Amino acid sequence: MTNIRSIAIPPLTADLERVLIDADTIQRRVIEMANQINHDYAGITEPLVLVGILKGSFIFLADLCRKLTVPHVVDFIAVSSYGKGSTSTGNVRLVMDTRENLEKHHVLIVEDILDTGYTLDYLVRNLKARGTRSVNTAVLLEKPDRHKVEVHLQYVGFTIPDVWVVGYGLDYGEQYRTLPYIAEMKIPG
Ligand code: XMP
Ligand code: MG
Repeated sequence: MTNIRSIAIPPLTADLERVLIDADTIQRRVIEMANQINHDYAGITEPLVLVGILKGSFIFLADLCRKLTVPHVVDFIAVSSYGKGSTSTGNVRLVMDTRENLEKHHVLIVEDILDTGYTLDYLVRNLKARGTRSVNTAVLLEKPDRHKVEVHLQYVGFTIPDVWVVGYGLDYGEQYRTLPYIAEMKIPG
């Protein structure tokens, strides 16, 4: 039988500069965030709707929701803002909506990273306009140097410098999403 402890952590490839946040550190922080959410939503009578923003949040959301003890359901939403480049245009567009009707529900938007803030700013306003009971945000990472609009974040995992990061759901051209750690990408130039 396979010993899970013997499964190797994928090594850094030549395209990756360094590991920024290792897998154990991520897991410990996700548990802390879940504990805070359990505390804050204790006693809710309707399930909390976790809305993960595809695709980057799927691994964070999967780990976070499995540490929640408050009643919850999982849903997803997809937006596009970057076009083909890697710089946000501020032009956010909904490309896939949630399955659930969010009216009268407590909603927690789950996002991988806050960069300029355009995506979350758009989604918070969009979901609030649906008659939701509350809309809060949980982001694993934020790059404070990059904010263009102010977004109030209830739960933040880590603050990171202005570098492109991959792993734990985050990608570069769809690569590296499933690395268990978060690494800084070497950007050519
Ligand atoms: P805004 O600028 O709207 O963007 O806050 C948030 C979205 O930008 C993507 N993003 C990244 N994705 N590594 C990534 O893999 C990064 O370093 C990075 N910075 C921003 C991400 O899709 C997020 O949802
Ligand atoms: Mg994303």
